[in-house]
Parts: sequence; C-alpha cells; structure tokens
Amino acid sequence: MKDLLIRNLASLATSTGSKPRGGKEMGEILEIENPWVLIREGKIYRIGQEELLQEAPDADILDATGQTLLPGFVDPHTHLVFGGTREEEFSMRLRGESYMAIMEKGGGIKYTVRKTHEASFNELLENGMKTLKSMAEMGITTVEAKSGYGLDRETELKQLRVARELNEAGLLEVVSTFMGAHDIPMEYKGRDKAFLDYMVDEVLPKVIDENLAEFGDIFTEKNVFSVEDSREYLKKMRDMGLKLKIHADEINDLGGAALAAELSLTSADHLLKANDEGLGMMKEKGVIPVLLPLTAFSLKEDFARAREMIDMGLPVAMGTDYNPGSCYSFSIPLMLSLGCLKMGMSPEEALTAVTLNSASALDRAHRIGTIEVGKDADLILIDAPSYRFLTYHFGMNLVTTTIKRGKIIHRK
Ligand code: NIG
Ligand code: FE
Repeated sequence: MKDLLIRNLASLATSTGSKPRGGKEMGEILEIENPWVLIREGKIYRIGQEELLQEAPDADILDATGQTLLPGFVDPHTHLVFGGTREEEFSMRLRGESYMAIMEKGGGIKYTVRKTHEASFNELLENGMKTLKSMAEMGITTVEAKSGYGLDRETELKQLRVARELNEAGLLEVVSTFMGAHDIPMEYKGRDKAFLDYMVDEVLPKVIDENLAEFGDIFTEKNVFSVEDSREYLKKMRDMGLKLKIHADEINDLGGAALAAELSLTSADHLLKANDEGLGMMKEKGVIPVLLPLTAFSLKEDFARAREMIDMGLPVAMGTDYNPGSCYSFSIPLMLSLGCLKMGMSPEEALTAVTLNSASALDRAHRIGTIEVGKDADLILIDAPSYRFLTYHFGMNLVTTTIKRGKIIHRK
C-alpha cells in the first residue's frame, strides 16, 4: 500500500486519547493549524509540516487546501440490515398515532420482521451496501449493525451474515450486535421468558459458533422486555462471550439505566426518560450513554438530557439509530445540529460524542476515534477552515473526502 500525504490543510481537530471523555474533558479539542499528515500502511504515521515530503517522497498526495481534517465519524447504534420500509407508519405517526400503539397492533417492528423474513440474502446485502456508500459520503467510517428483525433463528442469522459480508466488503467497518430480543413475536405473546429461552438455547449458540456478533442487546421497555427478564438474558449473553448494550428508558423509565450500571454494560442507549439515579450509577460504573437525537426528533419526543449528563461527568456518545421505523435517517449533519441546538452540547462536545466516545461505545477507542499517531487512518475532510463549521453551517454535509484505513473511499 502506497503512503498517502495530506498537505495544505487549513486545520486538524480531534479529541485525544483512547478512553471515553466525560464532563469538561468532552469539550477539550486539539486543534492544529496548517498541518500535513502522513499515512502509512493504513495508520496515521506522522503529523507535521512540509518536511514529511522527505520522509515519503513516493507518497500519493492529497491536496486539502482550505479544508479541515477530522476523525471519521463512528455510528455506534443502527439497525442497518432490514427488509421493506414503513412510510405509511410515518404518516400515521404524523396524524397522532403513537409508536408503541402501532407496534401493539402488529405494525412497527413486526412489519419489518415480516419483510426481513421475506427478503433474500442478496436483497439485504444490496440494500446494505447502498446504505454504506451513502454513509461514507456522510463521513461515517465505522458503523454498528444490530440484528433483531428476524426473531427466529434463520432470519436472525441471515441478518448477521449479511452484516458480516458488509464488513468483509471492506468499505466501512461494520460491528455486529445480536439483538434477537428486539420484540416478542405473536406466537410467543404472553410467554416472554420462553421466547428469551429460545433465543439463548437455539439462536445464540449458532451466533457464537459462527462468530457473528461482538455485542448483545435487548429492548427493555414496557410491553416488550421487563428489567427482570432483561437482567437474566443479558447475563446469559455475557456468559456466552458477548459484550453488552441495552435499549434503555426510550419510551418509559423502567430503570434501564440502573440495570446497565448494575451489570457494567458497555453502553446504554436512548435514555430519553432515564432518571438521575440511574445516570449517576452509570457514571460510577463507566457505562457510556449513547444518545440518539434523530429518533427523539422523529418520534417527536423530548430529547435526552445531554447537557445534564455531561455536567454530571458522563462521556456522552451519539449515534443515528438508523432503522425503517422510529428513525429512517442517518443524517450526521442533522444529528450534530440537534445535539447542539436542542440538547445543549457545544460544537467540541458534539465532535467528541460522534468520534472518540462513540468509538468507546464500540470498544474501539484504542484504534479509532481520534487523529493520533498509531491509530487507524479513518479520517474525513470537510470543506471548511475549522471544525466549528460542522455545527455552525448546520444541516449541511460538508464532507468532501472519506478515508478508511488509509484508503480514500469517497471523494466529492
Ligand atoms: O432503536 N426501540 C427499538 N428499536 C428501534 C426501532 C426499531 C423499529 O422501529 O423498527 C429503536 O428505536
Ligand atoms: Fe435502536
């Protein structure tokens, strides 16, 4: 692989370190003016000035006059692989029907489960590839992908195998999460525990056998899975070797945040309704809050309390939650704008949330999420003289170039 030398940058901006940053530290961004950056073997090799030309006389040159270099965005929460779309449901919600009411009537997640069941492996793969390409245009270099639109063995495995193939395609890095406990299928209605046992006994062993997932997740919510059942199920997934996440306190405050802390999960996601005690416990146990403002926006719910969480010292991360129902969008520009204009984050905090802290939510902060020598060269260029334009020029996609492990995967 040839070296790549990025020259004439207006600036570079990044969080630093390999650990999640909470509280005041979230706002500390390293900014370097007019740097040159040398990439070797897919890694950030040196940050310097013109002298890097001597170091790598044969390097490919990327001229970045007037542009700013940032770490590639890490999206730590999506439901990337699914069949069908739910535009009718969106209209129903606009007319005032609630997300949970639609779900209880057999729509919502259950509709996508039927469509995902019907879709062929190749259809899912093609759709997924198309999505990854537009994600790359948006500056995303790593994305998490959950199963959970199968709810039976065959379809859960199909989704996860598609995600694995998407990862192997080498465009973006795709991190797989097993979320067989996303909803309770009709045939298990009223028998939640039996359904979770089925997942543990019949599906999970195959997932582990084929090495199809790194994380496990569950939708802990009223009329879905209780805290008690979630606790047992999460422990079993951990015993089988998975790292853990939870959809917590999204629609109702069930105490999901406290459960996440009790079990020291890697992250607790959504948290729209999370209470102070649960959040305090998360802080104690180092659980990363993954906030999903695009979902709150789409569901017309109040936003998660990012400002308060950061002031409590929590290392807030942000993700898109891309899925066909509650959030049919992976707009990073809109997400960053909501983070700043509706959730009280500073531009610096928003940048940390979608890079270093989201990398931490995927247990990858040692390798991605910042621009530092030795880390993967997962980088983006934005057409602006400083990172401040990311949120100031709101709602705009400023990304001109996306680089994954030293390879240019998108160029405008
Ligand atoms: O994160 N809350 C549960 N799961 C998804 C939505 C899935 C869907 O509506 O299809 C979420 O919001
Ligand atoms: Fe989700």
